[in-house]
Amino acid sequence: MHNLSHQSSSSPKTQHSRLTKLIIISSSLCIVYLLLSLLLLHTSKLVNLSRSSQDLKASTSIDHLVFGIASNHNSWPRRKDYVKLWWRPHQMRGCVFLENRSPSTSSQNDTSLPPVCLSDDTNRIRYLNRGGLRSAIRVARVVSEIVAMNHSNVRWFVFGDDDTVFFPENLVKTLSKYDHELWYYIGKNSEVIMQNKVFSFDMAFGGAGFALSYPLAKVLAKVFESCLERYIYLYGSDGRVQACVAELGIGLTREPGFHQMDIRGNMFGLLAAHPNTPVVSMHHLDFTDPIFPNMTTTQALEHLLEAAKVDPHRLLQQTVCYDRWFSWTVSVSWGYAVQVFGNRVFLPDVLRTPQSFIPWKGGSVLAESYVFDTREYHPDPCRRPVVFFFERVDYAKGGGGIKSSYRKMTNEDCAFDTGSPRKIEAITVLSQKLDLDIKQEELVQSRINLVCIQSNRVNSITKPQVLDLPFLSQIYTEARQRSKKLGNQYEAVWLPIMNDSSTPLNEEKQKQVETTRVSMLWFSVSHPSMVAPAFV
Ligand SMILES: *[C@@H]1O[C@H](CO)[C@@H](O)[C@H](O)[C@H]1NC(C)=O
Ligand SMILES: *[C@@H]1O[C@H](CO)[C@@H](O)[C@H](O)[C@H]1NC(C)=O
Ligand SMILES: *[C@@H]1O[C@H](CO)[C@@H](O)[C@H](O)[C@H]1NC(C)=O
Ligand SMILES: *[C@@H]1O[C@H](CO)[C@@H](O)[C@H](O)[C@H]1NC(C)=O
Repeated sequence: MHNLSHQSSSSPKTQHSRLTKLIIISSSLCIVYLLLSLLLLHTSKLVNLSRSSQDLKASTSIDHLVFGIASNHNSWPRRKDYVKLWWRPHQMRGCVFLENRSPSTSSQNDTSLPPVCLSDDTNRIRYLNRGGLRSAIRVARVVSEIVAMNHSNVRWFVFGDDDTVFFPENLVKTLSKYDHELWYYIGKNSEVIMQNKVFSFDMAFGGAGFALSYPLAKVLAKVFESCLERYIYLYGSDGRVQACVAELGIGLTREPGFHQMDIRGNMFGLLAAHPNTPVVSMHHLDFTDPIFPNMTTTQALEHLLEAAKVDPHRLLQQTVCYDRWFSWTVSVSWGYAVQVFGNRVFLPDVLRTPQSFIPWKGGSVLAESYVFDTREYHPDPCRRPVVFFFERVDYAKGGGGIKSSYRKMTNEDCAFDTGSPRKIEAITVLSQKLDLDIKQEELVQSRINLVCIQSNRVNSITKPQVLDLPFLSQIYTEARQRSKKLGNQYEAVWLPIMNDSSTPLNEEKQKQVETTRVSMLWFSVSHPSMVAPAFV
């Protein structure tokens, strides 16, 4: 950081790269501090609670689940690619249900996909809904047909469509919060008020996926056949399941990680403002733009799953940070995108969902209204916060932290001043793997997203400035004190970067480096030539 100060009058290009590095450092500190404090805050209070519930039963894992996926001969050849993204052939049980006809596609032997099961014939059950398709009955019966297969050691039955993408670790995590020996019907309704008004606010929308605990599914399967006869006028399969579950006295347990996605176009807002809960599913990806720029839908999902492999529970979870150096507001949606606002934005406004998408069907106020808070997504990209999309994730060297990088992947031609975050090219976020236990997870969900404030010293720097060493030292000391109180351990390291490491430093510079190094509180490398610019 010292070399920042003695090169303060160099060309715009070096200023630019300097700014980039500064941001890497400041945001890392901020995120690390923030995530660690979250973990520790909770562990200290909750250790006892969670122990007692864990001792009771071995924790739920992926082999306690059985999946019933509804598809048909027309869509399966295309949509099996979605299922392939999340299906774990040797770990998961269940099957994909196709109509009982034309064995052509069902004879496929792809071991990376769930086996195909043929649905029973449902012609004897009447279907009287004018707007819908009678295949709704066949799809509803996936519930009773999969139960009839008598799988052993099942805790949860999970249902979804062929265009539902599940995040398996998060699904398990979410279901493990509940006692699988009780009766549970878990899922979520639609994002769109009109959809809920027409179908039901208390229905688990089928495309988002839903889960039934084993004992509930067993009882439901027994009464399902006769129950279906009572609901011949309903539109969909999910409405039939809801009605029959309601007859057993069970209502919907809402889990915000399930996503029906009754919206079209650009999903950015929905994903970037994800609540602090593990993302369980996504749906309707045929109707949405690819979630990363310059990729196909499937490539983009594969890219997101790269992040999920490293820290599945944190995926998409939003963290907000206020940078006091530049008066910027930074919102991290882990593994997906970082937004930087060039000003201070109040927390409740950052948490609102940017309305980047369009409704499933327009035409009325309710059809264009959502069940969550929204904010404007400005048509002019230059008037929106700068967005950096997830690029890659690695384990940080030593210490078990995770380093994720985000890069500007769009190319707006915006006029900007020197203080604009638009000059940054990339952002690195350091975090610890999110591994909250069950009780903590419940608490976090009811909590608001976290706010990180870097320093008590309120300093309204609106333009990037070269930061002097004493100022940095003070921030460092304050952060250390705070983190010590919480029992955190992290370290800052000074990495002086030379723009040309082949030219040796002259004696004067060499001396400067040495004096700086000695006066610093934190670790550093012994000589700038040890860090090649390419490393950063
Ligand atoms: C699928 O696998 C089964 C058993 O392994 C085999 O009998 C059958 O011929 C295979 N079908 C195709 C289309 O490869
Ligand atoms: C499942 O168990 C029931 C009751 O024990 C039995 O009637 C049925 O045949 C079994 N189904 C299969 C596929 O084994
Ligand atoms: C888009 O992708 C292509 C091929 O992967 C790549 O060559 C190109 O540079 C990318 N464009 C941007 C703006 O990232
Ligand atoms: C770094 O780059 C700037 C501008 O390109 C140049 O003026 C300066 O001499 C370089 N410094 C070193 C140490 O090479």
